[in-house]
Amino acid sequence: MSPRPVVVVTRRLPEPVHQALARAFDARLNPDDRPLSADGLREAVGSADALLTTVTDKVTAEVLAAEPRRAGLVANFGVGFNNIDVEAAKARGIAVSNTPDVLTDATADLAMTLLLMVARRTGEGERHLRGGQWTGWRPTHMLGTHVTGKTLGLVGMGRIARAVAQRAHHGFGMRIIYHDPFPPPPDVARGLGAEQRQTLDEVLREADFVSLHCPATPETRHLLNRDRLALMRPEAFLINTARGDVVDEAALVETLASKRIAGAGLDVFEREPQVTQALTAMDNVVLLPHLGSATTETRVAMGMRAFENLQLFFSGKPLRDRVA
Ligand code: DGY
Repeated sequence: MSPRPVVVVTRRLPEPVHQALARAFDARLNPDDRPLSADGLREAVGSADALLTTVTDKVTAEVLAAEPRRAGLVANFGVGFNNIDVEAAKARGIAVSNTPDVLTDATADLAMTLLLMVARRTGEGERHLRGGQWTGWRPTHMLGTHVTGKTLGLVGMGRIARAVAQRAHHGFGMRIIYHDPFPPPPDVARGLGAEQRQTLDEVLREADFVSLHCPATPETRHLLNRDRLALMRPEAFLINTARGDVVDEAALVETLASKRIAGAGLDVFEREPQVTQALTAMDNVVLLPHLGSATTETRVAMGMRAFENLQLFFSGKPLRDRVA
């Protein structure tokens, strides 16, 4: 019997995923959930047949340069794969896969959660109540911003943005505008009540809520810089469930501090897990610890999707979710 493929699993995954991996492979699990260092990742590239990585693993060109190399696949647990130097992987003949589709609904739900939280001041309200400051109902207490019927501007119109549009338009009667250099077919946009804008700037100028749904690439780094943030309306809110470095976090802090926008709901940050300290002191900002896909069902489905890619790879078949 030929030895089973060695798969290094960099973080603890939900139990059903561990079980599937352990049945099929010589899976090197990480039950203590200690992140691997760059040396640890490099060692894995040299000693394992594949790696199952997450957003917290920086799979750099240096990591991928391990000599001799053994790994043929980096199966990322996540739809985003900006933690991996895809060009370097390609150059070394290492395949890369991701886990699209299965986290679309969970992430869209979280974008709506942030939108509602920041508009209706729910984080602030909860802190107020838990802090023992609530003195009772009053007509002018903690007034928020109405959501129903407002304009939602989507930056990017891929799977997650469309799921947000579905919820916002059909659930909350929101008007949807969007910009995407690769727009969806007109009938898809029509079904979501979504109107295209030719430029990002038009979306920023017009929207009451701007929600980011573009991938993190060198082109989208600091897409929302100081100048672009300045285009937003003073009553508008920014929602980010995409990637932190799409926004210039320092510029966002300045924009919020000078009240040039009304608030922000953020699930991702430029230097995770660090969060710019000033944000944590702002009441008009909702901050979550990268929870977009964090439901049990979704995290199991993500793990099983990465598992499927590993199985396909080791049986010599095309990957379902090959990104490089
Ligand atoms: C994703 O899938 O990209 C999530 O942000 C977790 O990495």
